[in-house]
Amino acid sequence: MIHEIALTIKPTMKCNMRCKHCFNGNDLNKSDIIKLQDVYHFIESACKEYEDIKVTFHGGEPTLAGNDFYKKVFKFQEQMTDKYDVKFSNNFTTNALLLDDELIDLLIKNNTLINISFDGPYNSVLRQHSNLVYEKICKVKGKGGKVRAFCTISKGSYTHLLDIYNWFNDRQIDFKILPIEPRGYAAIDRELLMDTKQFIKVLSKAYRYWITDKECQIRFYTFEEFAALRRETQFKPFWFKREIALNPDGKIYPFGRPNDIQFCLGKPSDTFSLNKCFESAEYKRMLDILSRLREKYCMDCQSSQVCNGVCICMSYMYVQQDDLLQYSCNQSKSIFSMVLGINDEIMGDFKMGNTEKYNNIIKRKFTEK
Ligand SMILES: C[S@@+](CC[C@H](N)C(=O)[O-])C[C@H]1O[C@@H](n2cnc3c(N)ncnc32)[C@H](O)[C@@H]1O
Repeated sequence: MIHEIALTIKPTMKCNMRCKHCFNGNDLNKSDIIKLQDVYHFIESACKEYEDIKVTFHGGEPTLAGNDFYKKVFKFQEQMTDKYDVKFSNNFTTNALLLDDELIDLLIKNNTLINISFDGPYNSVLRQHSNLVYEKICKVKGKGGKVRAFCTISKGSYTHLLDIYNWFNDRQIDFKILPIEPRGYAAIDRELLMDTKQFIKVLSKAYRYWITDKECQIRFYTFEEFAALRRETQFKPFWFKREIALNPDGKIYPFGRPNDIQFCLGKPSDTFSLNKCFESAEYKRMLDILSRLREKYCMDCQSSQVCNGVCICMSYMYVQQDDLLQYSCNQSKSIFSMVLGINDEIMGDFKMGNTEKYNNIIKRKFTEK
C-alpha cells in the first residue's frame, strides 16, 4: 500500500465567471459534464492502492455540477472509507457565485478546505462580483468552515502586495497568492503580466515584513512555504507520481490543474489501476520529455536542488512549451534565490540567539527539526 495520492476531479470546464486572465481560456466553452460512474471508478481505484487520498474539485467551475453531484460523491467516499479503511481529505476550488447554504454545509460536514478565488482589495482588476464573493467568504467563516482565498496577483495589483496581506490579515482571512502565468487568456493579453524583477522586489519586501509581523493572525500559505525552504532540501521531493486528474471527458491525465491533455493515461473502470497509469508508456514518454527539459534548464541552476523542476508557485513543470517554461523557470529561480538568502539570514540570527524580532511561525519553522 502506498501512502498518499492527490486526485484532481474536474466535473466541468464550463464557467459562470469571465476572469480576464483564465488559464483555461477557450476551453471554458466546452459543455461536457463528467459522468458520476467515472468519478466512482477513479476514486475506488485510488482506494485500492493508496491510504491517504486528497481530492481537489476544480474546473471550470465545480459548483456547476450541482449540489446533488457532491451529495453523491461524498456519500461514495463514506462507503469507500468503510470498505478500504482509507482517509480522504477534500479541497474545493470555486469562484463561490453558486456556493449556497446547502453546499457550504455539505462541504463543511465533509471537512473540506474551500478555496475561494478572490483577490482582496484588487478583486475587480481581473474578476467580477467582488461584494458577493466577499460575502460568501464571510458566510463560510461564520459557519465555522475552513476557507482560504486564492488571490491571483497581476500587473494591476502586485505592487500592492503588502496592502493585500494587511487587508486579508485585518479581516482574518487565510490566503495564498497565485502569481499570474502567461497561459490561456493571460498569454493573449500580456498587459496583465508582471515585471519579474519588480515582482521579486515587492515579494521580498512583503516577506521581510511578514517574518517579523507579530500581528499576523492568519495563514499566509505562500510565505509559510517560503519559510520552509532550505538550500539542501528539495521543495517537493515526491511530486511526480502523486498527482493525477480526471477531466470532464472521463479520461485521466497527469498532474492536477491545469493538466496536459496530450498525455492521456486511460479511462477509469472497475479494473483500472492508478499505479499502472504511472507505469504506462504514455507516462514514461512524458517523464522522458521532462527529464530532457530538466537537463536543459536545471543543470546550471543554483536552485535546482531545491526545486528539481517544480516551480514554487505553480508546483509543476510545463511540458513542451518553451516560452512558458522559461518564464516560470526564471521567476521561480529568482524567488528561490531571494527566499533562500533571507532564510540564511534568519538561520544566522537563530544561531546567535537573536530570535526576538520574529513572528511565531518563523520561530517554529526555524527551530523544528
Ligand atoms: C482556473 S480557476 C478554476 C476553479 C474555479 N472556477 C475558481 O474560480 O476558483 C482556479 C484558480 O486559477 C487561477 N488562475 C486562472 N488563470 C490563471 C493564470 N493565468 N495565472 C495564475 N492563476 C490563474 C484563478 O484566478 C483561480 O483562482
